[in-house]
Amino acid sequence: MIKIVSICGSLRRNSFNKKLLEAIEQESKGKWDMTLAAIDNLPLFNEDLEMGGDPEEVTVFKKKLADADAILIVTPEYNSGIPGGLKNALDWASRPVKSSAFSNRPVAIAGATPGSAGTALSQMQLRQILVAMNANVLSGPKVLVGEVHKKLEADTKQINDLRTLDHLQSFIHSFTDFVEMYKKAE
Ligand code: FNR
Repeated sequence: MIKIVSICGSLRRNSFNKKLLEAIEQESKGKWDMTLAAIDNLPLFNEDLEMGGDPEEVTVFKKKLADADAILIVTPEYNSGIPGGLKNALDWASRPVKSSAFSNRPVAIAGATPGSAGTALSQMQLRQILVAMNANVLSGPKVLVGEVHKKLEADTKQINDLRTLDHLQSFIHSFTDFVEMYKKAE
């Protein structure tokens, strides 16, 4: 089993991105052992605060990232970019620069939106940020779930669109191979 820690860029209770995360968890059963690293309790990043030592919530967050084999970020797109809460979490996790929880780590990204472009712009921005953090981001297959509200089961509101679930299987397969490569190199 591969240990995957996930981050969800949406803090919303009924978030579509949380549904996507649940679908990935469901589809990866038996391959991935997934845990969530919450970002909603992190203070706003401030170098003054950091100078006094990481706040407890930040220490817990960074430890969760460090303890996993790989990181999965599932995020909405806000104004053609990533949500502020996610950027805040990444800024905390990026420090100290040389030994950050993202440096040289395998990372995958995914996103869902009721819009048609499937969070392509926020994922492009997220890739750029992750490269700056020296992370190794899976190139593809990209998980861009557009019109997600039409892909849910009526009662449970879980993603049940067969093409999407099939695509998630390819994604899980590719990221598993990518992470295994790292584990072998260790
Ligand atoms: C949005 N939304 C949005 N969607 C999109 O595809 N591209 C965008 O640029 C934006 N911009 C945007 C800005 C802000 C401030 C909000 C609140 C929303 C719509 C967004 O995709 C929608 O609210 C999703 O439901 C958010 O994801 P969760 O919370 O359902 O996971």
